[in-house]
Amino acid sequence: MTGDRVLSPGDIVQITDDRGRHHTLNLQPGATFHTHRGSIAHDDLLGRPEGIVVTTTGGTRYVALRSLLEDFVLSMPRGAAVIYPKDAARIAMLTGLRPGWSVLEAGAGSGALTCTLIQTVGAQGRVVSCERRPDFAETARANVTRWFGGEPETWTLHVGDLAERPWDPGLSGGFDAVVLDMLDPWEHVDTVAAALRPGGVLVVYVATTTQLSRIAEDLRADGRWTEPRAEESLVRTWHLEGLAVRPDHRMVGHTGFLLTSRRLAEGTVAPPRRRRPAKGLTGGAPGA
Ligand SMILES: C[S@@+](CC[C@H](N)C(=O)[O-])C[C@H]1O[C@@H](n2cnc3c(N)ncnc32)[C@H](O)[C@@H]1O
Repeated sequence: MTGDRVLSPGDIVQITDDRGRHHTLNLQPGATFHTHRGSIAHDDLLGRPEGIVVTTTGGTRYVALRSLLEDFVLSMPRGAAVIYPKDAARIAMLTGLRPGWSVLEAGAGSGALTCTLIQTVGAQGRVVSCERRPDFAETARANVTRWFGGEPETWTLHVGDLAERPWDPGLSGGFDAVVLDMLDPWEHVDTVAAALRPGGVLVVYVATTTQLSRIAEDLRADGRWTEPRAEESLVRTWHLEGLAVRPDHRMVGHTGFLLTSRRLAEGTVAPPRRRRPAKGLTGGAPGA
Protein backbone atom coordinates (compact mmCIF):
# COMPACT_ATOMS: atom_id res chain seq x y z
CA MET A 1 0.00 0.00 0.00
CA THR A 2 2.98 2.35 -0.13
CA GLY A 3 5.35 3.94 -2.61
CA ASP A 4 4.56 5.74 -5.82
CA ARG A 5 3.08 2.75 -7.59
CA VAL A 6 -0.11 3.22 -9.54
CA LEU A 7 -3.56 2.37 -8.16
CA SER A 8 -3.89 -1.43 -8.13
CA PRO A 9 -6.48 -4.13 -7.41
CA GLY A 10 -7.15 -4.38 -3.66
CA ASP A 11 -6.18 -0.76 -2.95
CA ILE A 12 -8.54 1.13 -0.65
CA VAL A 13 -9.27 4.48 -2.20
CA GLN A 14 -11.25 7.44 -0.90
CA ILE A 15 -12.96 9.68 -3.43
CA THR A 16 -13.98 13.18 -2.30
CA ASP A 17 -16.29 15.66 -4.04
CA ASP A 18 -16.09 19.46 -3.99
CA ARG A 19 -18.10 19.62 -0.74
CA GLY A 20 -15.79 17.24 1.09
CA ARG A 21 -18.24 14.32 0.91
CA HIS A 22 -16.42 11.09 0.41
CA HIS A 23 -16.83 7.41 -0.38
CA THR A 24 -14.48 4.48 0.05
CA LEU A 25 -13.76 1.98 -2.74
CA ASN A 26 -11.89 -1.31 -2.65
CA LEU A 27 -10.53 -1.39 -6.19
CA GLN A 28 -11.41 -4.47 -8.24
CA PRO A 29 -11.02 -4.86 -12.02
CA GLY A 30 -14.39 -4.67 -13.80
CA ALA A 31 -16.28 -3.39 -10.72
CA THR A 32 -18.50 -0.31 -10.70
CA PHE A 33 -19.13 2.10 -7.83
CA HIS A 34 -22.59 3.67 -7.76
CA THR A 35 -23.43 7.02 -6.22
CA HIS A 36 -26.71 8.91 -6.50
CA ARG A 37 -24.82 11.14 -8.94
CA GLY A 38 -23.91 8.36 -11.35
CA SER A 39 -21.33 5.62 -11.37
CA ILE A 40 -17.55 5.25 -11.61
CA ALA A 41 -15.84 2.26 -13.21
CA HIS A 42 -12.96 1.03 -11.02
CA ASP A 43 -11.05 0.54 -14.28
CA ASP A 44 -11.01 4.36 -14.62
CA LEU A 45 -8.78 4.40 -11.52
CA LEU A 46 -6.74 1.22 -11.92
CA GLY A 47 -3.29 1.79 -13.36
CA ARG A 48 -3.41 5.52 -12.70
CA PRO A 49 -1.61 7.55 -10.01
CA GLU A 50 -3.19 8.79 -6.79
CA GLY A 51 -4.41 12.37 -6.70
CA ILE A 52 -6.32 12.25 -9.98
CA VAL A 53 -9.89 13.44 -10.61
CA VAL A 54 -12.51 10.94 -11.76
CA THR A 55 -15.93 11.92 -13.08
CA THR A 56 -19.14 9.96 -12.55
CA THR A 57 -21.47 9.17 -15.44
CA GLY A 58 -23.63 12.02 -14.00
CA GLY A 59 -20.76 14.52 -14.29
CA THR A 60 -19.72 14.82 -10.59
CA ARG A 61 -15.98 15.12 -10.09
CA TYR A 62 -14.13 13.38 -7.27
CA VAL A 63 -10.49 13.53 -6.18
CA ALA A 64 -9.16 10.00 -5.67
CA LEU A 65 -6.53 9.19 -3.04
CA ARG A 66 -5.53 6.00 -1.26
CA SER A 67 -7.15 6.01 2.18
CA LEU A 68 -4.95 6.74 5.16
CA LEU A 69 -5.59 4.55 8.22
CA GLU A 70 -7.63 7.37 9.75
CA ASP A 71 -9.88 7.52 6.66
CA PHE A 72 -10.28 3.76 6.67
CA VAL A 73 -11.15 3.48 10.37
CA LEU A 74 -13.81 6.17 10.10
CA SER A 75 -15.39 4.53 7.05
CA MET A 76 -15.09 0.81 7.83
CA PRO A 77 -18.01 -1.36 9.02
CA ARG A 78 -18.39 -1.37 12.79
CA GLY A 79 -19.79 -3.85 15.24
CA ALA A 80 -18.58 -2.32 18.49
CA ALA A 81 -17.73 1.37 18.92
CA VAL A 82 -14.19 2.02 17.70
CA ILE A 83 -11.25 3.78 19.30
CA TYR A 84 -10.98 7.03 17.37
CA PRO A 85 -7.78 7.84 15.48
CA LYS A 86 -6.91 10.64 17.93
CA ASP A 87 -6.91 8.13 20.81
CA ALA A 88 -5.17 5.40 18.80
CA ALA A 89 -2.37 7.87 18.07
CA ARG A 90 -2.00 8.64 21.78
CA ILE A 91 -2.07 4.92 22.60
CA ALA A 92 0.82 4.33 20.18
CA MET A 93 2.78 7.04 22.00
CA LEU A 94 1.76 6.11 25.56
CA THR A 95 2.64 2.42 25.07
CA GLY A 96 5.93 3.44 23.45
CA LEU A 97 5.23 0.81 20.77
CA ARG A 98 8.00 0.34 18.25
CA PRO A 99 8.86 -2.11 15.47
CA GLY A 100 9.44 -5.61 16.82
CA TRP A 101 7.44 -5.18 20.04
CA SER A 102 4.67 -7.48 21.21
CA VAL A 103 1.29 -6.18 22.32
CA LEU A 104 -1.82 -7.79 23.76
CA GLU A 105 -5.21 -6.18 23.17
CA ALA A 106 -8.75 -6.80 24.46
CA GLY A 107 -11.41 -6.41 23.21
CA ALA A 108 -10.70 -6.23 19.55
CA GLY A 109 -14.23 -4.95 18.85
CA SER A 110 -14.27 -3.72 15.24
CA GLY A 111 -10.50 -3.95 14.85
CA ALA A 112 -9.82 -0.23 14.60
CA LEU A 113 -7.10 -0.06 17.25
CA THR A 114 -5.86 -3.46 16.04
CA CYS A 115 -4.88 -1.93 12.69
CA THR A 116 -2.82 0.76 14.44
CA LEU A 117 -1.11 -1.80 16.69
CA ILE A 118 -0.23 -4.18 13.82
CA GLN A 119 1.07 -1.32 11.70
CA THR A 120 3.15 0.15 14.53
CA VAL A 121 4.93 -3.05 15.61
CA GLY A 122 5.72 -3.90 11.98
CA ALA A 123 6.83 -7.11 10.31
CA GLN A 124 8.93 -8.34 13.27
CA GLY A 125 6.31 -7.48 15.90
CA ARG A 126 3.50 -9.49 17.44
CA VAL A 127 -0.11 -8.53 18.15
CA VAL A 128 -2.50 -10.79 20.08
CA SER A 129 -6.11 -9.60 20.11
CA CYS A 130 -8.93 -11.09 22.22
CA GLU A 131 -12.59 -10.63 21.42
CA ARG A 132 -15.26 -12.64 23.20
CA ARG A 133 -18.11 -11.87 20.81
CA PRO A 134 -17.76 -14.01 17.67
CA ASP A 135 -19.74 -11.54 15.54
CA PHE A 136 -17.49 -8.63 16.53
CA ALA A 137 -14.41 -10.81 16.05
CA GLU A 138 -15.50 -11.50 12.47
CA THR A 139 -15.93 -7.77 11.86
CA ALA A 140 -12.46 -7.16 13.28
CA ARG A 141 -10.99 -9.93 11.13
CA ALA A 142 -12.67 -8.57 8.00
CA ASN A 143 -11.52 -5.00 8.67
CA VAL A 144 -7.94 -5.98 9.46
CA THR A 145 -7.79 -8.27 6.41
CA ARG A 146 -9.14 -5.54 4.20
CA TRP A 147 -6.71 -2.91 5.48
CA PHE A 148 -3.61 -5.08 5.17
CA GLY A 149 -4.74 -6.85 1.98
CA GLY A 150 -4.69 -10.21 3.81
CA GLU A 151 -4.50 -11.48 7.38
CA PRO A 152 -1.14 -10.35 8.81
CA GLU A 153 1.16 -13.17 9.94
CA THR A 154 2.12 -11.06 12.94
CA TRP A 155 -1.46 -11.09 14.25
CA THR A 156 -3.40 -13.65 16.28
CA LEU A 157 -7.10 -13.10 16.95
CA HIS A 158 -8.43 -15.14 19.85
CA VAL A 159 -12.21 -15.45 19.84
CA GLY A 160 -12.83 -15.79 23.56
CA ASP A 161 -12.33 -14.08 26.88
CA LEU A 162 -9.09 -12.37 27.86
CA ALA A 163 -9.32 -14.28 31.14
CA GLU A 164 -8.49 -17.46 29.18
CA ARG A 165 -4.95 -16.07 28.76
CA PRO A 166 -4.87 -17.32 25.18
CA TRP A 167 -1.36 -16.31 24.25
CA ASP A 168 1.56 -18.54 23.36
CA PRO A 169 3.29 -19.65 26.63
CA GLY A 170 6.52 -18.19 25.25
CA LEU A 171 4.94 -14.74 25.40
CA SER A 172 3.82 -15.03 29.02
CA GLY A 173 5.44 -12.32 31.09
CA GLY A 174 7.00 -11.03 27.88
CA PHE A 175 4.51 -8.63 26.32
CA ASP A 176 5.85 -5.12 25.92
CA ALA A 177 2.40 -3.57 26.15
CA VAL A 178 -1.24 -4.37 26.86
CA VAL A 179 -4.21 -2.25 25.78
CA LEU A 180 -7.64 -2.83 27.33
CA ASP A 181 -10.83 -1.39 25.86
CA MET A 182 -13.74 -2.99 27.70
CA LEU A 183 -16.37 -2.17 30.31
CA ASP A 184 -14.67 -3.87 33.28
CA PRO A 185 -10.87 -3.74 32.88
CA TRP A 186 -10.37 -4.09 36.67
CA GLU A 187 -11.49 -7.72 36.38
CA HIS A 188 -8.31 -8.46 34.40
CA VAL A 189 -5.55 -6.88 36.48
CA ASP A 190 -4.09 -10.27 37.39
CA THR A 191 -4.19 -11.51 33.78
CA VAL A 192 -2.48 -8.37 32.52
CA ALA A 193 0.16 -8.56 35.26
CA ALA A 194 0.92 -12.12 34.10
CA ALA A 195 1.21 -10.99 30.48
CA LEU A 196 3.50 -7.98 30.83
CA ARG A 197 7.26 -7.98 31.21
CA PRO A 198 8.75 -5.79 33.94
CA GLY A 199 8.51 -2.22 32.65
CA GLY A 200 5.79 -3.22 30.16
CA VAL A 201 3.09 -0.62 29.65
CA LEU A 202 -0.61 -0.99 30.36
CA VAL A 203 -2.98 1.46 28.68
CA VAL A 204 -6.66 1.29 29.57
CA TYR A 205 -9.30 3.12 27.54
CA VAL A 206 -12.52 3.85 29.44
CA ALA A 207 -15.46 6.09 28.63
CA THR A 208 -16.53 7.26 32.10
CA THR A 209 -14.98 8.78 35.21
CA THR A 210 -16.39 6.02 37.42
CA GLN A 211 -14.53 3.40 35.36
CA LEU A 212 -11.40 5.55 35.47
CA SER A 213 -11.55 5.82 39.25
CA ARG A 214 -12.15 2.10 39.72
CA ILE A 215 -9.27 0.94 37.53
CA ALA A 216 -6.86 3.49 39.06
CA GLU A 217 -7.72 2.46 42.63
CA ASP A 218 -7.59 -1.26 41.81
CA LEU A 219 -4.13 -0.91 40.24
CA ARG A 220 -2.91 1.00 43.31
CA ALA A 221 -4.35 -1.65 45.62
CA ASP A 222 -2.80 -4.43 43.53
CA GLY A 223 0.65 -2.94 44.10
CA ARG A 224 2.44 -4.34 41.04
CA TRP A 225 2.18 -1.08 39.12
CA THR A 226 3.62 2.39 38.86
CA GLU A 227 1.39 5.27 39.85
CA PRO A 228 -1.37 5.45 37.22
CA ARG A 229 -1.78 8.59 35.19
CA ALA A 230 -4.78 9.63 33.16
CA GLU A 231 -5.52 11.93 30.27
CA GLU A 232 -8.06 12.70 27.62
CA SER A 233 -7.42 14.35 24.29
CA LEU A 234 -9.58 16.82 22.45
CA VAL A 235 -9.00 17.52 18.79
CA ARG A 236 -10.62 20.62 17.36
CA THR A 237 -10.65 21.03 13.60
CA TRP A 238 -10.58 24.49 12.03
CA HIS A 239 -12.54 26.20 9.31
CA LEU A 240 -10.10 27.69 6.76
CA GLU A 241 -11.50 30.10 4.25
CA GLY A 242 -9.84 33.39 3.33
CA LEU A 243 -9.87 35.50 6.49
CA ALA A 244 -12.60 33.35 8.06
CA VAL A 245 -10.19 31.19 10.00
CA ARG A 246 -11.75 29.89 13.20
CA PRO A 247 -12.48 26.65 15.04
CA ASP A 248 -15.19 24.52 13.44
CA HIS A 249 -18.55 24.78 15.17
CA ARG A 250 -18.76 21.04 15.69
CA MET A 251 -16.24 18.64 17.20
CA VAL A 252 -16.08 15.17 18.75
CA GLY A 253 -16.53 16.31 22.35
CA HIS A 254 -15.79 13.14 24.30
CA THR A 255 -14.49 9.75 23.36
CA GLY A 256 -12.73 8.29 26.37
CA PHE A 257 -10.01 8.55 29.00
CA LEU A 258 -6.63 6.86 28.74
CA LEU A 259 -5.03 5.50 31.88
CA THR A 260 -1.39 4.42 31.77
CA SER A 261 0.65 2.43 34.27
CA ARG A 262 3.78 0.27 34.06
CA ARG A 263 4.45 -3.20 35.42
CA LEU A 264 6.94 -3.30 38.27
CA ALA A 265 9.46 -6.14 38.49
CA GLU A 266 8.12 -9.19 40.38
CA GLY A 267 8.40 -8.68 44.14
CA THR A 268 9.09 -4.95 43.88
CA VAL A 269 7.14 -2.64 46.13
CA ALA A 270 7.04 0.93 44.84
CA PRO A 271 7.82 3.62 47.45
CA PRO A 272 4.50 5.06 48.61
CA ARG A 273 3.49 8.07 46.60
CA ARG A 274 3.69 11.26 48.67
CA ARG A 275 0.99 13.70 47.89
CA ARG A 276 0.72 17.26 49.06
CA PRO A 277 -2.52 17.40 51.05
CA ALA A 278 -5.24 19.58 49.58
CA LYS A 279 -5.22 22.99 51.23
CA GLY A 280 -8.69 22.64 52.69
CA LEU A 281 -7.60 19.46 54.53
CA THR A 282 -4.54 20.86 56.35
CA GLY A 283 -6.39 22.71 59.08
CA GLY A 284 -4.90 26.04 57.93
CA ALA A 285 -6.97 29.16 57.47
CA PRO A 286 -9.19 29.01 54.37
CA GLY A 287 -7.40 30.54 51.41
CA ALA A 288 -4.01 30.49 53.24
C1 LIG B 1 -15.56 -0.89 22.62
S1 LIG B 1 -15.23 -2.46 22.00
C2 LIG B 1 -13.56 -2.40 21.46
C3 LIG B 1 -13.35 -1.60 20.23
C4 LIG B 1 -11.95 -1.71 19.65
N1 LIG B 1 -10.94 -1.28 20.59
C5 LIG B 1 -11.82 -0.97 18.35
O1 LIG B 1 -11.04 0.01 18.29
O2 LIG B 1 -12.46 -1.33 17.36
C6 LIG B 1 -15.12 -3.44 23.46
C7 LIG B 1 -15.05 -4.91 23.11
O3 LIG B 1 -14.53 -5.63 24.19
C8 LIG B 1 -15.07 -6.93 24.16
N2 LIG B 1 -14.83 -7.51 25.48
C9 LIG B 1 -15.31 -7.10 26.68
N3 LIG B 1 -14.82 -7.84 27.67
C10 LIG B 1 -13.98 -8.75 27.11
C11 LIG B 1 -13.17 -9.81 27.62
N4 LIG B 1 -13.13 -10.06 28.93
N5 LIG B 1 -12.44 -10.55 26.76
C12 LIG B 1 -12.49 -10.30 25.42
N6 LIG B 1 -13.25 -9.31 24.88
C13 LIG B 1 -13.98 -8.54 25.70
C14 LIG B 1 -16.55 -6.67 23.83
O4 LIG B 1 -17.17 -7.80 23.30
C15 LIG B 1 -16.40 -5.53 22.80
O5 LIG B 1 -16.38 -6.02 21.49
